[in-house]
Amino acid sequence: MTENIQYGNWIRKKMLLILGLSALGLAILFLVSLNLYLKTITGILFVVLLISFSFPLYAYYAFSPRGGNLQEQVYTLIVDSLGKQPLENALDIGTGNGVLALKLAQKYPAAQVIGLDYWGKNWEYSQSICETNARTVKVADRVRFVKGDAASLEFNDAAIAAVVSNLTFHEVKSAPQKRAVVQEALRVLRPGGRFVFVDYFFDNQYYGQAAEFETFLHSLGLAQIEFKHLSEVLPLSRLLRHPKFFGKVGIIVGQK
Ligand SMILES: C[S@@+](CC[C@H](N)C(=O)[O-])C[C@H]1O[C@@H](n2cnc3c(N)ncnc32)[C@H](O)[C@@H]1O
Repeated sequence: MTENIQYGNWIRKKMLLILGLSALGLAILFLVSLNLYLKTITGILFVVLLISFSFPLYAYYAFSPRGGNLQEQVYTLIVDSLGKQPLENALDIGTGNGVLALKLAQKYPAAQVIGLDYWGKNWEYSQSICETNARTVKVADRVRFVKGDAASLEFNDAAIAAVVSNLTFHEVKSAPQKRAVVQEALRVLRPGGRFVFVDYFFDNQYYGQAAEFETFLHSLGLAQIEFKHLSEVLPLSRLLRHPKFFGKVGIIVGQK
């Protein structure tokens, strides 16, 4: 993918800014305070906040093109996992800045690609960035970005030849049961169609116990299914394998 693409980052800049400024504020308070009690409290809080800030800052760098470019690695993994057969259409659910959708369009020159997102205010992605990115990589004629809700997709059953989604399903507030979002994505996939989903599938709070979730996936009557930790298929640093980051992220690759 070209350097002129706006990737965005899975770590929100706004969150880094708030943590960074709060740590700075505490550092100043620590330095100017003369009261020993206040100095101790602000000192402890500063250390806690500095750690809370350094962790996502490191991840932000690791995800970005200037760092380890992990985002690009995950998109490549997803697109590679879809296989080589030509596709007439493909859908990326929760497309963010659309980079995964664009990679699909580049890999499958005959495919019409749809990137769907709700582009909520809490994220730093937008439909207009998606469209600019599509023009930059010269696939705008085959990629369409649409606003929608992953919990109730406005596509007919079996309308799509390939469905992908990255780090989105757990975010879908309109669906209390995240398994239902997975089912909704599979509803629009045509029989024989391929799918690749990456999400916090090993996090109990979203999907229940991993073994139960796997049983649930097998109960859907899919033709083929592979369910793994992301770290089994992508080398991740020890820090990124932490449960707060990618330790609970899984990848599901299959065919309906
Ligand atoms: C962590 S970001 C991942 C973005 C993109 N998949 C990527 O890999 O860069 C999660 C995305 O899910 C989208 N999202 C959250 N809830 C959604 C919903 N109900 N319907 C569609 N998209 C949603 C957000 O707008 C955001 O773009």
